[in-house]
Amino acid sequence: MTNLDFIYNRKSIRQFKDTHIPKEDILELLKAATFAPSPKHQQNWHFVVLQNPEIINEMADIVTKSHEKIGELAKTEKDKKRHMSVINYYTCFKDAPVVVLVYACEYKMIEYKILKENDAPQEILDVLESPQSGAQGIGAAVENFLLAATEMGYGTCYMTGPTHAKTEIEKLIGFDKPGYELMSMISLGVAEDNTPAQPPRKPLEDVVTFID
Ligand SMILES: Cc1cc2nc3c(=O)[nH]c(=O)nc-3n(C[C@H](O)[C@H](O)[C@H](O)COP(=O)(O)O)c2cc1C
Repeated sequence: MTNLDFIYNRKSIRQFKDTHIPKEDILELLKAATFAPSPKHQQNWHFVVLQNPEIINEMADIVTKSHEKIGELAKTEKDKKRHMSVINYYTCFKDAPVVVLVYACEYKMIEYKILKENDAPQEILDVLESPQSGAQGIGAAVENFLLAATEMGYGTCYMTGPTHAKTEIEKLIGFDKPGYELMSMISLGVAEDNTPAQPPRKPLEDVVTFID
């Protein structure tokens, strides 16, 4: 039997021990990330590694403020409550010893250029863009990182929630790579003991269709 434990044992970790992560391990995980497939092999990613607890904490404060600001705009108390109920899921990187910010640049599609130069209607251009291939490549890279981390005994959480504060986060860390934008974050560390179990999956028959 193929051993896929490194897939089945992965779960999102939101509480971490205060354990230092060696740089060579971080580099190994980033290397694993870059071995992911990417559309037309454009490798449209860039990774920013944060290890300074003050910066990580400040980033959590920034996300909290941005989250509260959005909450204030809610038209009903119900929406506000619902929005605020996820705040811990958007800031749970704050105790992680490492946070990797994942940036992406635009995925360049020749077919898009050709059709656009021929004044193709927006619906046709939208169809080309709808697979969001650039974002899919980032997802593949992040997943490689998460699975490699599981295999190496580390806990991780894949996060996009905090990106609503991306402008403020970019200002805080002072990273500016023209053409690149923050897509997601990965918190990394040694998992705290007794973290919540992995949530159950939908049964395969609900999510799979065989067409013979
Ligand atoms: C694209 C993406 C974005 C996510 N964003 C967040 C997030 O902002 N905060 C968080 O706590 N978890 C986030 N998650 C983790 C999911 O909540 C988690 O994967 C899901 O609940 C299944 O749990 P498991 O990872 O333990 O199997 C995200 C996962 C994905 C794939």
